[in-house]
Amino acid sequence: MWFGMVSLFPEAFKAVTDFGITGRAIDAGIIEMAYFNPRDFADDKQHTVDDKPYGGGPGMLMKVDPLRLAINAARDVKSSSKVICLSPSGYRLDQEGLKKLALCNSLILISGRYEGVDERILEHEVDLEVSIGDYVISGGELAAMVLVDGLTRLLPSGIGCEESVKRDSFFDGLLEYPQYTRPAEISEYDEAGYVPEVLLSGNHQEIAKWRHKQALGKTYERRPDLMKKYALNESEKKLLGEYIEDQSSD
Ligand SMILES: C[S@@+](CC[C@H](N)C(=O)[O-])C[C@H]1O[C@@H](n2cnc3c(N)ncnc32)[C@H](O)[C@@H]1O
Repeated sequence: MWFGMVSLFPEAFKAVTDFGITGRAIDAGIIEMAYFNPRDFADDKQHTVDDKPYGGGPGMLMKVDPLRLAINAARDVKSSSKVICLSPSGYRLDQEGLKKLALCNSLILISGRYEGVDERILEHEVDLEVSIGDYVISGGELAAMVLVDGLTRLLPSGIGCEESVKRDSFFDGLLEYPQYTRPAEISEYDEAGYVPEVLLSGNHQEIAKWRHKQALGKTYERRPDLMKKYALNESEKKLLGEYIEDQSSD
């Protein structure tokens, strides 16, 4: 998947290009990132990319022309790209949204700075505004990196283990079940220091059942919004009932 990163701070993307799963995906040619800095397209001596908002108010806005030219330069490389602007006012990103975007071959991601971008850019150049949550951060680069990382995990061979993606939170609409690794016992933690017996039993059917019950219970407790959307079948209703009973008897 090709990403055209429109940003005033291309160096910021080292966090995804140089490390971990995304770094390996770049080395393997699974994802590719190209940079288009609006400052390179500013035509004055100072390479100005911001200006005061009409009507007054605090802060500056990204100017139309340098941004438009940077987006066009990215389009010249991959003309069919969907253009996304990272913005707190955008569609709020979730796993379903990521799955849809993962079907694209190329995306142009605009990282805003200052107080954001001139509205005419959004109206004329942008296909979709995407928010990473109901809070405001200082620049779109971190948000764009969230998008690139989340998408890389969903690409075939992006993570190297598709099974692990399917077990992640949200993949099937539930939060992930609790996980444990060695040692099986941590004496300093009293009861909570023990790994649940069933996970040590080697009985894969029972382990799968326990995990599903925990995933249902955790989602029920922490994310009623997700639970509401999840269509419980009869055996899941029973499992969740057992979970609630287990909790109340603890
Ligand atoms: C300081 S913010 C501007 C916030 C803007 N004045 C507002 O209230 O909506 C600068 C840039 O950071 C990025 N940004 C901030 N919060 C974001 C969020 N929750 N999701 C996506 N991008 C965000 C956007 O690219 C935005 O243009």
